[in-house]
Amino acid sequence: MNVLWIFAHPEPRSLGGSLRDEGVRTLRAQGAEVRESDLYAMKWNPVVDADDFGSAAESDRLIVGSTSKNAFKSGELSADIRAEHDKLTWADTVVFQFPLWWYGMPAILKGWFDRVFVKGFAYGVQRPDGRTARYGEGALAGKRAMVVLTAGAPEATIGPRGVNGEIDDLLFPLQHGTLWYAGMSVLPPLTVCGADRVSPDQYDAAAEALRERLRTLSTRDPIPFRSQNGGDYDDALILRDAFAPGRRGNDVHLDV
Ligand SMILES: Cc1cc2nc3c(=O)[nH]c(=O)nc-3n(C[C@H](O)[C@H](O)[C@H](O)COP(=O)(O)O)c2cc1C
Repeated sequence: MNVLWIFAHPEPRSLGGSLRDEGVRTLRAQGAEVRESDLYAMKWNPVVDADDFGSAAESDRLIVGSTSKNAFKSGELSADIRAEHDKLTWADTVVFQFPLWWYGMPAILKGWFDRVFVKGFAYGVQRPDGRTARYGEGALAGKRAMVVLTAGAPEATIGPRGVNGEIDDLLFPLQHGTLWYAGMSVLPPLTVCGADRVSPDQYDAAAEALRERLRTLSTRDPIPFRSQNGGDYDDALILRDAFAPGRRGNDVHLDV
């Protein structure tokens, strides 16, 4: 197994940092190859810049803007983006670890996706039949992804009727709209709740939960998101009436 561990936390001596160390150690002890992108340690630039994509052709400038053009194909990407592409190409499994900040990922990780998941690499790939490969198909298909998350909220408050909303909904933009969109199979996340006050026993339980999830990284069933081109959606990409009839919300996109 080739695992890329993406870590977005400013403090290595945090709960998140300890879990990252435990996770990487566990994987290596299992015989996995592990490479890391420790975004703060790398001083990752999260802000998309026009230079990232090379100079836009005059026609691009008039019509779509430089970030929409396929700079991956034309080989004009910045060196730091290309280095992340090399790691992703090498990896068969990617772990994304971060603390929940304002219902989402830290800005440095959002900016990693903005700059790294570019057209031609993570999306915008055409199938032979002319349809666009996305939501279960695409350049990153065949790779597995898993989110490892710490959250200050107690577990019940990110449960079905908790005030914070359900964790699957909070992670929908990342797990469905980004990772599955790009073709990756997304494993259920590991969430460590109540993460602002963790006793030694609670830490041990969290570390054991992480080790268990890493032991089953290559075998656990992914979240059963529906594939875009599998027939469940019509040509306008709306879920057909026959599926999840009368229901609405994010979980209609689960084939259960
Ligand atoms: C800027 C910021 C925003 C946060 N937003 C949330 C949030 O929306 N939901 C939540 O449950 N916890 C939130 N927290 C709490 C963090 O998730 C928590 O402190 C972290 O996961 C604990 O792990 P750590 O000690 O490794 O940082 C936030 C913390 C910070 C600093």
